[in-house]
Amino acid sequence: MAEESKSSLDALSALCKRRGFIYHSSEIYGGMPGFWDYGPLGSELKQNVKQAWWQFTVRGREDVAGLDATIIMHPKIWKASGHLDTFADPMTMCKDCKKLMRADQIGDIYADQKKKPQPKAAGSDFFCPYCGGELTEPKPFNLMFKTVVGPIDDPSNVAYLRPETAQAIFAQFTNVVSTSRFAVPFGIAQMGKSFRNEVTPRNYTFRSREFEQMELEFFIRPDEAVEILHGHVVTLADRPNLDGPVQDDWGWEVWHKYWVEQRKKFLNAVGLPTERFVEYWQKPDELAHYARACVDIEYDFPFGRQELEGIAARGDFDLTQHQKHSGVSQMVFDDPLKQAAKKMDEAARKAFVEKVQADWVARGRDAVAAEKFCLGLFEGKYVPHVIEPSAGVDRLMLALLCEAYEEQQLKDDKGKDDVRTVLHFHPKVAPVKAAVFPLIKKDEAQYRFARGLFEKLRKRFNVQWDVSGAIGRRYRRQDEAGTPWCITVDEQTTKDGTFTVRDRDSMEQKRMTTAEFLAMAEEALEF
Ligand code: GAP
Repeated sequence: MAEESKSSLDALSALCKRRGFIYHSSEIYGGMPGFWDYGPLGSELKQNVKQAWWQFTVRGREDVAGLDATIIMHPKIWKASGHLDTFADPMTMCKDCKKLMRADQIGDIYADQKKKPQPKAAGSDFFCPYCGGELTEPKPFNLMFKTVVGPIDDPSNVAYLRPETAQAIFAQFTNVVSTSRFAVPFGIAQMGKSFRNEVTPRNYTFRSREFEQMELEFFIRPDEAVEILHGHVVTLADRPNLDGPVQDDWGWEVWHKYWVEQRKKFLNAVGLPTERFVEYWQKPDELAHYARACVDIEYDFPFGRQELEGIAARGDFDLTQHQKHSGVSQMVFDDPLKQAAKKMDEAARKAFVEKVQADWVARGRDAVAAEKFCLGLFEGKYVPHVIEPSAGVDRLMLALLCEAYEEQQLKDDKGKDDVRTVLHFHPKVAPVKAAVFPLIKKDEAQYRFARGLFEKLRKRFNVQWDVSGAIGRRYRRQDEAGTPWCITVDEQTTKDGTFTVRDRDSMEQKRMTTAEFLAMAEEALEF
Protein backbone atom coordinates (compact mmCIF):
# COMPACT_ATOMS: atom_id res chain seq x y z
CA MET A 1 0.00 0.00 0.00
CA ALA A 2 1.45 3.38 -0.97
CA GLU A 3 2.21 5.66 1.99
CA GLU A 4 -0.07 8.35 0.48
CA SER A 5 -3.01 5.91 0.26
CA LYS A 6 -2.37 4.70 3.79
CA SER A 7 -2.45 8.25 5.06
CA SER A 8 -5.70 8.99 3.22
CA LEU A 9 -7.29 5.97 4.96
CA ASP A 10 -5.80 7.18 8.27
CA ALA A 11 -7.27 10.65 7.72
CA LEU A 12 -10.65 9.18 6.78
CA SER A 13 -10.74 6.86 9.80
CA ALA A 14 -9.76 9.77 12.07
CA LEU A 15 -12.67 11.81 10.68
CA CYS A 16 -15.02 8.84 11.04
CA LYS A 17 -14.09 8.51 14.70
CA ARG A 18 -14.17 12.26 15.43
CA ARG A 19 -17.52 12.85 13.72
CA GLY A 20 -19.28 9.69 14.90
CA PHE A 21 -19.36 7.55 11.77
CA ILE A 22 -17.36 4.51 12.94
CA TYR A 23 -15.96 3.45 16.33
CA HIS A 24 -14.06 0.37 17.46
CA SER A 25 -16.51 -2.04 19.04
CA SER A 26 -16.12 -2.26 22.86
CA GLU A 27 -13.51 0.47 22.71
CA ILE A 28 -13.41 1.17 26.44
CA TYR A 29 -12.23 -2.42 26.93
CA GLY A 30 -9.57 -2.17 24.25
CA GLY A 31 -11.76 -3.03 21.22
CA MET A 32 -12.04 -6.32 19.34
CA PRO A 33 -10.33 -6.86 15.97
CA GLY A 34 -12.84 -7.20 13.15
CA PHE A 35 -15.79 -5.64 15.02
CA TRP A 36 -16.98 -2.08 14.40
CA ASP A 37 -19.83 0.11 15.62
CA TYR A 38 -21.57 2.87 13.71
CA GLY A 39 -22.09 6.12 15.61
CA PRO A 40 -24.82 8.77 15.13
CA LEU A 41 -23.79 9.73 11.59
CA GLY A 42 -22.65 6.22 10.60
CA SER A 43 -25.93 4.63 11.63
CA GLU A 44 -27.85 7.17 9.51
CA LEU A 45 -25.57 6.47 6.54
CA LYS A 46 -26.12 2.75 7.01
CA GLN A 47 -29.91 3.13 7.18
CA ASN A 48 -29.83 5.15 3.97
CA VAL A 49 -27.66 2.63 2.11
CA LYS A 50 -29.94 -0.23 3.16
CA GLN A 51 -33.11 1.69 2.39
CA ALA A 52 -31.77 2.62 -1.05
CA TRP A 53 -30.94 -1.03 -1.79
CA TRP A 54 -34.37 -2.22 -0.59
CA GLN A 55 -36.15 0.42 -2.65
CA PHE A 56 -34.10 -0.35 -5.77
CA THR A 57 -34.16 -4.16 -5.42
CA VAL A 58 -37.50 -4.96 -3.80
CA ARG A 59 -40.09 -2.18 -3.64
CA GLY A 60 -39.17 -0.63 -6.96
CA ARG A 61 -39.78 -3.92 -8.81
CA GLU A 62 -42.77 -6.16 -9.33
CA ASP A 63 -40.79 -9.40 -9.42
CA VAL A 64 -38.91 -9.39 -6.10
CA ALA A 65 -40.17 -10.11 -2.57
CA GLY A 66 -38.39 -9.63 0.76
CA LEU A 67 -37.42 -12.01 3.54
CA ASP A 68 -36.18 -11.47 7.09
CA ALA A 69 -34.87 -14.76 8.46
CA THR A 70 -33.07 -15.72 11.67
CA ILE A 71 -29.31 -15.59 12.04
CA ILE A 72 -29.12 -19.02 13.66
CA MET A 73 -30.67 -21.73 11.52
CA HIS A 74 -30.75 -25.52 11.47
CA PRO A 75 -27.13 -26.73 11.19
CA LYS A 76 -28.12 -29.07 8.34
CA ILE A 77 -28.46 -25.97 6.16
CA TRP A 78 -24.69 -25.47 6.36
CA LYS A 79 -24.03 -29.11 5.56
CA ALA A 80 -26.25 -28.87 2.47
CA SER A 81 -24.75 -25.57 1.32
CA GLY A 82 -21.19 -26.90 1.63
CA HIS A 83 -20.16 -24.34 4.27
CA LEU A 84 -19.48 -26.96 6.94
CA ASP A 85 -17.06 -28.85 4.74
CA THR A 86 -15.48 -26.20 2.55
CA PHE A 87 -15.98 -22.66 3.93
CA ALA A 88 -12.42 -22.41 5.14
CA ASP A 89 -9.30 -20.32 4.71
CA PRO A 90 -5.75 -21.75 4.85
CA MET A 91 -4.33 -20.75 8.24
CA THR A 92 -0.73 -20.79 9.37
CA MET A 93 1.04 -19.85 12.62
CA CYS A 94 4.50 -18.46 13.28
CA LYS A 95 6.45 -20.88 15.46
CA ASP A 96 8.38 -17.92 16.98
CA CYS A 97 5.95 -15.01 17.53
CA LYS A 98 2.84 -17.28 17.53
CA LYS A 99 0.90 -14.91 15.25
CA LEU A 100 -1.90 -16.53 13.26
CA MET A 101 -2.47 -15.48 9.66
CA ARG A 102 -4.01 -16.53 6.37
CA ALA A 103 -1.41 -18.33 4.31
CA ASP A 104 -2.74 -16.67 1.14
CA GLN A 105 -2.33 -13.17 2.64
CA ILE A 106 1.31 -13.42 3.68
CA GLY A 107 2.49 -11.39 0.68
CA ASP A 108 0.03 -8.55 1.45
CA ILE A 109 0.91 -8.51 5.16
CA TYR A 110 4.61 -8.41 4.26
CA ALA A 111 4.00 -5.52 1.83
CA ASP A 112 2.27 -3.59 4.65
CA GLN A 113 5.24 -3.87 7.05
CA LYS A 114 7.33 -0.72 7.46
CA LYS A 115 10.33 -2.81 8.62
CA LYS A 116 10.52 -5.84 6.37
CA PRO A 117 11.82 -8.89 8.27
CA GLN A 118 14.32 -11.31 6.70
CA PRO A 119 13.74 -15.08 6.99
CA LYS A 120 15.42 -16.46 10.11
CA ALA A 121 16.03 -19.78 8.36
CA ALA A 122 18.34 -19.23 5.38
CA GLY A 123 16.75 -19.80 1.96
CA SER A 124 13.17 -20.03 3.27
CA ASP A 125 10.55 -18.31 1.09
CA PHE A 126 7.64 -19.17 3.45
CA PHE A 127 8.40 -17.15 6.56
CA CYS A 128 6.52 -14.99 9.06
CA PRO A 129 5.88 -11.52 7.55
CA TYR A 130 6.03 -10.03 11.09
CA CYS A 131 9.27 -11.53 12.50
CA GLY A 132 10.83 -13.77 9.82
CA GLY A 133 10.17 -16.92 11.90
CA GLU A 134 9.28 -20.34 10.57
CA LEU A 135 5.61 -20.95 9.71
CA THR A 136 3.55 -24.06 10.34
CA GLU A 137 2.06 -26.05 7.45
CA PRO A 138 -1.19 -24.22 6.35
CA LYS A 139 -4.36 -25.93 7.57
CA PRO A 140 -7.96 -25.20 6.57
CA PHE A 141 -9.77 -23.13 9.19
CA ASN A 142 -13.59 -23.03 9.02
CA LEU A 143 -14.84 -19.44 9.17
CA MET A 144 -18.20 -20.12 10.77
CA PHE A 145 -18.77 -19.00 14.37
CA LYS A 146 -20.09 -21.83 16.50
CA THR A 147 -22.60 -21.52 19.30
CA VAL A 148 -24.72 -23.86 21.42
CA VAL A 149 -28.52 -23.77 21.35
CA GLY A 150 -30.24 -24.54 24.67
CA PRO A 151 -28.79 -25.10 28.12
CA ILE A 152 -26.77 -28.25 27.39
CA ASP A 153 -23.30 -27.69 25.98
CA ASP A 154 -23.18 -30.81 23.84
CA PRO A 155 -21.96 -31.36 20.24
CA SER A 156 -25.52 -32.31 19.26
CA ASN A 157 -26.65 -28.76 20.18
CA VAL A 158 -24.01 -26.95 18.13
CA ALA A 159 -25.34 -24.33 15.71
CA TYR A 160 -23.68 -21.61 13.63
CA LEU A 161 -24.07 -17.89 13.14
CA ARG A 162 -24.89 -17.55 9.46
CA PRO A 163 -21.87 -16.72 7.27
CA GLU A 164 -24.18 -15.37 4.52
CA THR A 165 -27.84 -14.35 4.34
CA ALA A 166 -28.37 -16.25 1.07
CA GLN A 167 -28.98 -19.73 2.48
CA ALA A 168 -32.10 -18.64 4.37
CA ILE A 169 -33.58 -17.59 1.05
CA PHE A 170 -33.03 -21.07 -0.39
CA ALA A 171 -34.30 -22.73 2.79
CA GLN A 172 -37.53 -20.66 2.64
CA PHE A 173 -37.92 -20.89 -1.12
CA THR A 174 -40.93 -23.24 -1.11
CA ASN A 175 -42.72 -21.15 1.55
CA VAL A 176 -42.27 -17.93 -0.43
CA VAL A 177 -43.45 -19.65 -3.62
CA SER A 178 -46.60 -20.95 -1.94
CA THR A 179 -47.43 -17.71 -0.07
CA SER A 180 -46.72 -15.23 -2.86
CA ARG A 181 -48.20 -15.08 -6.32
CA PHE A 182 -44.82 -15.16 -8.02
CA ALA A 183 -43.92 -17.47 -10.89
CA VAL A 184 -40.37 -17.92 -12.18
CA PRO A 185 -38.59 -15.61 -13.02
CA PHE A 186 -38.74 -13.82 -9.67
CA GLY A 187 -36.43 -12.95 -6.81
CA ILE A 188 -36.24 -13.10 -3.02
CA ALA A 189 -34.13 -10.48 -1.26
CA GLN A 190 -32.75 -10.25 2.22
CA MET A 191 -30.55 -7.82 4.17
CA GLY A 192 -28.98 -8.59 7.50
CA LYS A 193 -26.06 -9.60 9.66
CA SER A 194 -23.54 -12.24 8.64
CA PHE A 195 -20.60 -13.52 10.64
CA ARG A 196 -17.24 -14.88 9.53
CA ASN A 197 -14.42 -15.69 11.90
CA GLU A 198 -11.88 -14.07 9.56
CA VAL A 199 -8.32 -15.15 10.46
CA THR A 200 -6.92 -11.69 9.78
CA PRO A 201 -9.58 -8.97 9.63
CA ARG A 202 -7.85 -6.10 7.83
CA ASN A 203 -8.21 -2.76 6.15
CA TYR A 204 -10.57 -0.95 8.53
CA THR A 205 -14.15 -2.23 8.07
CA PHE A 206 -13.38 -3.92 4.74
CA ARG A 207 -12.98 -7.43 6.13
CA SER A 208 -14.91 -7.66 9.39
CA ARG A 209 -16.00 -10.58 11.50
CA GLU A 210 -19.53 -9.23 11.91
CA PHE A 211 -21.00 -7.39 8.94
CA GLU A 212 -24.20 -6.96 6.96
CA GLN A 213 -25.08 -8.28 3.55
CA MET A 214 -27.73 -7.31 1.00
CA GLU A 215 -28.43 -10.35 -1.14
CA LEU A 216 -30.84 -11.18 -3.90
CA GLU A 217 -31.50 -14.67 -5.22
CA PHE A 218 -33.18 -14.23 -8.58
CA PHE A 219 -34.73 -17.49 -9.77
CA ILE A 220 -34.92 -18.17 -13.49
CA ARG A 221 -35.99 -20.99 -15.78
CA PRO A 222 -33.27 -23.39 -16.93
CA ASP A 223 -32.34 -22.55 -20.54
CA GLU A 224 -33.85 -25.87 -21.66
CA ALA A 225 -37.28 -24.71 -20.37
CA VAL A 226 -36.91 -21.41 -22.24
CA GLU A 227 -36.10 -23.42 -25.38
CA ILE A 228 -39.33 -25.43 -25.08
CA LEU A 229 -41.39 -22.29 -24.44
CA HIS A 230 -39.95 -20.08 -27.16
CA GLY A 231 -38.11 -22.38 -29.57
CA HIS A 232 -34.96 -20.35 -28.93
CA VAL A 233 -32.92 -18.90 -26.06
CA VAL A 234 -31.62 -15.32 -26.22
CA THR A 235 -27.90 -15.16 -25.46
CA LEU A 236 -25.53 -12.21 -25.13
CA ALA A 237 -24.46 -12.76 -28.74
CA ASP A 238 -28.01 -11.67 -29.72
CA ARG A 239 -27.26 -8.21 -28.21
CA PRO A 240 -30.43 -8.01 -26.10
CA ASN A 241 -31.57 -4.61 -24.85
CA LEU A 242 -30.71 -4.78 -21.14
CA ASP A 243 -32.12 -1.29 -20.49
CA GLY A 244 -35.62 -2.19 -21.60
CA PRO A 245 -38.13 -4.44 -19.83
CA VAL A 246 -37.01 -8.00 -19.01
CA GLN A 247 -37.92 -10.63 -21.60
CA ASP A 248 -39.33 -14.14 -21.22
CA ASP A 249 -36.94 -15.67 -23.75
CA TRP A 250 -33.70 -14.60 -22.00
CA GLY A 251 -31.25 -17.37 -21.13
CA TRP A 252 -29.16 -17.43 -17.93
CA GLU A 253 -26.28 -15.57 -19.57
CA VAL A 254 -28.50 -12.59 -20.36
CA TRP A 255 -30.09 -12.59 -16.89
CA HIS A 256 -26.64 -12.61 -15.35
CA LYS A 257 -25.46 -9.66 -17.42
CA TYR A 258 -28.77 -7.88 -16.74
CA TRP A 259 -28.12 -8.09 -12.97
CA VAL A 260 -24.54 -6.87 -13.41
CA GLU A 261 -26.00 -3.82 -15.19
CA GLN A 262 -28.66 -3.35 -12.50
CA ARG A 263 -26.01 -3.40 -9.77
CA LYS A 264 -23.97 -0.81 -11.66
CA LYS A 265 -27.07 1.39 -11.96
CA PHE A 266 -27.61 1.09 -8.21
CA LEU A 267 -24.01 2.02 -7.43
CA ASN A 268 -24.32 5.05 -9.72
CA ALA A 269 -27.55 6.07 -8.01
CA VAL A 270 -25.93 6.10 -4.57
CA GLY A 271 -22.91 8.06 -5.71
CA LEU A 272 -20.27 5.75 -7.21
CA PRO A 273 -19.72 6.79 -10.83
CA THR A 274 -19.13 3.94 -13.32
CA GLU A 275 -15.54 5.07 -13.98
CA ARG A 276 -14.70 4.46 -10.31
CA PHE A 277 -15.23 0.72 -10.38
CA VAL A 278 -14.32 -2.19 -12.65
CA GLU A 279 -16.08 -5.41 -13.59
CA TYR A 280 -13.89 -8.43 -13.07
CA TRP A 281 -15.20 -11.50 -14.88
CA GLN A 282 -13.82 -14.55 -13.11
CA LYS A 283 -11.89 -16.90 -15.39
CA PRO A 284 -13.23 -20.47 -15.80
CA ASP A 285 -10.52 -21.89 -13.51
CA GLU A 286 -11.40 -19.34 -10.78
CA LEU A 287 -15.10 -20.21 -10.66
CA ALA A 288 -16.62 -22.30 -7.89
CA HIS A 289 -17.37 -25.77 -9.32
CA TYR A 290 -21.14 -25.10 -9.45
CA ALA A 291 -20.94 -21.52 -10.82
CA ARG A 292 -21.39 -20.79 -14.50
CA ALA A 293 -20.16 -17.20 -14.28
CA CYS A 294 -19.23 -14.70 -11.60
CA VAL A 295 -18.50 -11.00 -11.85
CA ASP A 296 -16.81 -9.09 -9.05
CA ILE A 297 -17.41 -5.37 -8.99
CA GLU A 298 -14.14 -3.98 -7.74
CA TYR A 299 -13.40 -0.56 -6.31
CA ASP A 300 -10.07 1.23 -5.88
CA PHE A 301 -9.90 1.42 -2.09
CA PRO A 302 -6.92 3.33 -0.62
CA PHE A 303 -5.39 -0.10 0.16
CA GLY A 304 -5.78 -1.37 -3.41
CA ARG A 305 -8.38 -2.61 -5.88
CA GLN A 306 -10.70 -4.98 -4.03
CA GLU A 307 -14.07 -6.69 -4.41
CA LEU A 308 -17.00 -4.49 -3.51
CA GLU A 309 -19.68 -7.02 -4.41
CA GLY A 310 -20.27 -10.03 -6.63
CA ILE A 311 -22.88 -11.27 -9.08
CA ALA A 312 -22.83 -15.06 -9.54
CA ALA A 313 -24.77 -17.42 -11.80
CA ARG A 314 -25.10 -20.43 -9.50
CA GLY A 315 -27.19 -22.77 -11.68
CA ASP A 316 -29.51 -25.00 -9.62
CA PHE A 317 -26.78 -25.95 -7.13
CA ASP A 318 -28.26 -24.52 -3.91
CA LEU A 319 -31.88 -25.61 -4.30
CA THR A 320 -30.79 -29.06 -5.50
CA GLN A 321 -28.54 -29.44 -2.46
CA HIS A 322 -31.39 -28.51 -0.10
CA GLN A 323 -33.73 -30.85 -1.95
CA LYS A 324 -31.20 -33.67 -1.46
CA HIS A 325 -30.46 -32.96 2.21
CA SER A 326 -34.00 -32.09 3.39
CA GLY A 327 -35.92 -34.54 1.22
CA VAL A 328 -38.33 -31.69 0.40
CA SER A 329 -38.91 -31.06 -3.29
CA GLN A 330 -37.67 -27.66 -4.45
CA MET A 331 -39.30 -27.98 -7.86
CA VAL A 332 -41.74 -25.42 -9.21
CA PHE A 333 -44.68 -26.10 -11.48
CA ASP A 334 -44.61 -23.93 -14.59
CA ASP A 335 -47.95 -24.23 -16.41
CA PRO A 336 -46.97 -22.27 -19.56
CA LEU A 337 -44.02 -24.69 -19.90
CA LYS A 338 -46.30 -27.74 -19.58
CA GLN A 339 -48.67 -26.29 -22.19
CA ALA A 340 -45.77 -25.59 -24.58
CA ALA A 341 -44.37 -29.13 -24.05
CA LYS A 342 -47.82 -30.61 -24.85
CA LYS A 343 -47.51 -29.20 -28.35
CA MET A 344 -44.32 -31.22 -29.01
CA ASP A 345 -44.87 -34.56 -30.76
CA GLU A 346 -42.91 -37.72 -29.89
CA ALA A 347 -40.19 -37.07 -32.49
CA ALA A 348 -39.68 -33.50 -31.29
CA ARG A 349 -39.43 -34.69 -27.67
CA LYS A 350 -36.93 -37.39 -28.59
CA ALA A 351 -34.79 -34.92 -30.54
CA PHE A 352 -34.98 -32.48 -27.61
CA VAL A 353 -33.87 -35.12 -25.08
CA GLU A 354 -30.94 -36.15 -27.30
CA LYS A 355 -29.84 -32.54 -27.71
CA VAL A 356 -29.95 -31.91 -23.95
CA GLN A 357 -28.11 -35.16 -23.25
CA ALA A 358 -25.32 -34.25 -25.69
CA ASP A 359 -25.03 -30.81 -24.08
CA TRP A 360 -24.94 -32.19 -20.53
CA VAL A 361 -22.41 -34.88 -21.40
CA ALA A 362 -20.19 -32.24 -23.03
CA ARG A 363 -20.32 -30.36 -19.69
CA GLY A 364 -19.34 -33.50 -17.76
CA ARG A 365 -22.85 -34.33 -16.56
CA ASP A 366 -24.84 -37.52 -16.67
CA ALA A 367 -26.98 -38.57 -19.71
CA VAL A 368 -29.52 -40.45 -17.54
CA ALA A 369 -29.97 -37.41 -15.29
CA ALA A 370 -30.41 -35.28 -18.42
CA GLU A 371 -33.25 -37.50 -19.62
CA LYS A 372 -34.96 -37.39 -16.20
CA PHE A 373 -34.62 -33.61 -16.22
CA CYS A 374 -36.24 -33.40 -19.70
CA LEU A 375 -39.15 -35.62 -18.63
CA GLY A 376 -39.70 -33.24 -15.68
CA LEU A 377 -39.70 -30.26 -18.06
CA PHE A 378 -42.37 -31.94 -20.24
CA GLU A 379 -44.52 -32.03 -17.07
CA GLY A 380 -43.74 -28.33 -16.41
CA LYS A 381 -41.47 -29.15 -13.46
CA TYR A 382 -37.89 -28.14 -12.67
CA VAL A 383 -35.63 -26.80 -9.94
CA PRO A 384 -35.09 -23.12 -10.82
CA HIS A 385 -31.65 -21.74 -11.56
CA VAL A 386 -30.43 -18.67 -9.75
CA ILE A 387 -28.54 -15.43 -10.31
CA GLU A 388 -27.13 -14.00 -7.08
CA PRO A 389 -26.17 -10.34 -6.74
CA SER A 390 -24.56 -10.22 -3.30
CA ALA A 391 -23.34 -7.00 -1.68
CA GLY A 392 -21.85 -6.00 1.66
CA VAL A 393 -23.42 -3.02 3.44
CA ASP A 394 -20.26 -2.15 5.35
CA ARG A 395 -18.03 -2.53 2.31
CA LEU A 396 -20.28 -0.25 0.25
CA MET A 397 -20.32 2.27 3.11
CA LEU A 398 -16.51 2.21 3.17
CA ALA A 399 -16.38 2.77 -0.61
CA LEU A 400 -18.88 5.65 -0.32
CA LEU A 401 -16.83 7.22 2.49
CA CYS A 402 -13.58 6.86 0.49
CA GLU A 403 -15.28 8.28 -2.60
CA ALA A 404 -16.81 11.20 -0.69
CA TYR A 405 -13.75 12.25 1.30
CA GLU A 406 -11.87 15.36 0.21
CA GLU A 407 -9.47 17.77 1.84
CA GLN A 408 -9.69 21.03 -0.14
CA GLN A 409 -6.88 23.58 0.04
CA LEU A 410 -8.55 27.00 0.19
CA LYS A 411 -7.77 30.58 1.21
CA ASP A 412 -9.75 32.12 4.03
CA ASP A 413 -11.20 35.69 4.00
CA LYS A 414 -7.81 37.06 5.00
CA GLY A 415 -5.99 35.16 2.22
CA LYS A 416 -4.53 32.60 4.63
CA ASP A 417 -4.19 28.91 3.71
CA ASP A 418 -7.17 26.92 4.88
CA VAL A 419 -8.22 23.29 4.60
CA ARG A 420 -11.89 22.33 4.11
CA THR A 421 -12.66 18.68 4.88
CA VAL A 422 -15.78 17.67 3.05
CA LEU A 423 -17.70 14.46 2.42
CA HIS A 424 -19.36 14.71 -1.00
CA PHE A 425 -22.08 12.14 -0.33
CA HIS A 426 -24.91 11.76 -2.79
CA PRO A 427 -27.98 13.36 -1.12
CA LYS A 428 -29.72 9.95 -1.15
CA VAL A 429 -27.20 8.45 1.28
CA ALA A 430 -26.07 11.60 3.13
CA PRO A 431 -26.70 11.01 6.87
CA VAL A 432 -28.05 14.54 7.33
CA LYS A 433 -29.95 16.03 4.40
CA ALA A 434 -30.12 19.62 5.58
CA ALA A 435 -29.05 21.83 8.48
CA VAL A 436 -31.03 24.86 9.58
CA PHE A 437 -29.36 27.90 11.16
CA PRO A 438 -30.83 31.19 12.33
CA LEU A 439 -28.15 33.74 11.37
CA ILE A 440 -28.64 35.65 14.63
CA LYS A 441 -30.06 33.35 17.26
CA LYS A 442 -31.00 36.26 19.54
CA ASP A 443 -33.23 37.69 16.82
CA GLU A 444 -36.59 36.35 17.90
CA ALA A 445 -38.24 36.50 14.47
CA GLN A 446 -35.32 34.71 12.78
CA TYR A 447 -35.19 32.10 15.52
CA ARG A 448 -38.93 31.42 15.35
CA PHE A 449 -38.95 31.07 11.54
CA ALA A 450 -35.88 28.82 11.54
CA ARG A 451 -37.27 26.60 14.29
CA GLY A 452 -40.60 26.27 12.45
CA LEU A 453 -38.80 25.35 9.22
CA PHE A 454 -36.64 22.81 11.08
CA GLU A 455 -39.73 21.17 12.63
CA LYS A 456 -41.40 21.02 9.20
CA LEU A 457 -38.38 19.51 7.42
CA ARG A 458 -37.57 16.90 10.08
CA LYS A 459 -40.94 15.24 9.40
CA ARG A 460 -39.63 14.36 5.94
CA PHE A 461 -35.91 13.67 6.41
CA ASN A 462 -33.00 13.88 8.83
CA VAL A 463 -32.26 17.54 9.55
CA GLN A 464 -29.91 19.17 12.06
CA TRP A 465 -30.33 22.35 14.06
CA ASP A 466 -27.27 24.42 14.86
CA VAL A 467 -27.09 27.81 16.56
CA SER A 468 -23.57 27.70 17.94
CA GLY A 469 -20.63 29.64 16.57
CA ALA A 470 -20.10 31.80 13.50
CA ILE A 471 -22.00 30.78 10.36
CA GLY A 472 -18.75 29.74 8.61
CA ARG A 473 -17.97 27.28 11.40
CA ARG A 474 -21.47 25.86 11.20
CA TYR A 475 -21.01 25.28 7.45
CA ARG A 476 -17.70 23.50 8.06
CA ARG A 477 -19.24 21.20 10.65
CA GLN A 478 -21.88 20.16 8.13
CA ASP A 479 -19.28 19.76 5.35
CA GLU A 480 -17.52 17.15 7.49
CA ALA A 481 -20.81 15.34 8.01
CA GLY A 482 -21.52 15.45 4.26
CA THR A 483 -24.75 17.50 4.58
CA PRO A 484 -25.72 18.62 1.06
CA TRP A 485 -27.73 21.73 2.01
CA CYS A 486 -27.29 24.35 4.74
CA ILE A 487 -30.22 26.70 5.24
CA THR A 488 -29.59 30.09 6.82
CA VAL A 489 -32.49 32.18 8.01
CA ASP A 490 -31.60 35.89 8.01
CA GLU A 491 -33.19 39.29 8.20
CA GLN A 492 -34.66 39.09 4.71
CA THR A 493 -36.38 35.79 5.61
CA THR A 494 -38.54 37.59 8.14
CA LYS A 495 -39.65 40.01 5.37
CA ASP A 496 -40.25 37.73 2.37
CA GLY A 497 -40.04 34.11 3.62
CA THR A 498 -36.96 33.27 1.53
CA PHE A 499 -33.76 31.87 3.03
CA THR A 500 -30.31 31.05 1.69
CA VAL A 501 -29.52 27.47 0.72
CA ARG A 502 -25.79 26.83 0.57
CA ASP A 503 -24.74 23.95 -1.67
CA ARG A 504 -22.05 21.81 0.02
CA ASP A 505 -20.05 21.07 -3.14
CA SER A 506 -20.07 24.41 -4.96
CA MET A 507 -20.44 26.45 -1.72
CA GLU A 508 -22.80 28.70 -3.72
CA GLN A 509 -25.85 30.18 -2.03
CA LYS A 510 -29.30 30.62 -3.53
CA ARG A 511 -32.38 32.22 -2.03
CA MET A 512 -35.39 29.92 -1.96
CA THR A 513 -38.85 29.64 -0.49
CA THR A 514 -39.79 26.60 1.59
CA ALA A 515 -41.76 25.16 -1.34
CA GLU A 516 -38.84 25.65 -3.74
CA PHE A 517 -36.42 24.01 -1.32
CA LEU A 518 -38.72 21.01 -0.75
CA ALA A 519 -39.22 20.49 -4.49
CA MET A 520 -35.44 20.60 -5.09
CA ALA A 521 -34.64 18.25 -2.18
CA GLU A 522 -37.36 15.75 -2.97
CA GLU A 523 -36.26 15.50 -6.59
CA ALA A 524 -32.66 14.80 -5.49
CA LEU A 525 -33.77 12.19 -2.95
CA GLU A 526 -36.22 10.30 -5.15
CA PHE A 527 -35.24 6.83 -6.36
N1 GAP B 1 -23.84 -15.45 -0.86
C1 GAP B 1 -22.62 -15.16 -1.55
C2 GAP B 1 -21.62 -14.55 -0.70
O1 GAP B 1 -21.75 -14.44 0.51
P1 GAP B 1 -19.25 -13.43 -0.77
O2 GAP B 1 -18.44 -12.96 -1.95
O3 GAP B 1 -18.59 -14.31 0.20
O4 GAP B 1 -20.55 -14.11 -1.41
C3 GAP B 1 -20.64 -11.23 -0.71
O5 GAP B 1 -19.84 -12.16 -0.03
C4 GAP B 1 -20.31 -9.81 -0.28
O6 GAP B 1 -20.39 -9.70 1.16
C5 GAP B 1 -18.86 -9.39 -0.59
O7 GAP B 1 -18.74 -8.93 -1.93
C6 GAP B 1 -18.66 -8.26 0.41
O8 GAP B 1 -19.27 -7.08 -0.04
C7 GAP B 1 -19.41 -8.77 1.63
N2 GAP B 1 -18.48 -9.44 2.56
C8 GAP B 1 -18.06 -10.72 2.52
N3 GAP B 1 -17.22 -10.97 3.54
C9 GAP B 1 -17.10 -9.83 4.24
C10 GAP B 1 -16.37 -9.43 5.42
N4 GAP B 1 -15.61 -10.29 6.09
N5 GAP B 1 -16.49 -8.16 5.86
C11 GAP B 1 -17.27 -7.28 5.19
N6 GAP B 1 -17.99 -7.59 4.10
C12 GAP B 1 -17.91 -8.84 3.62
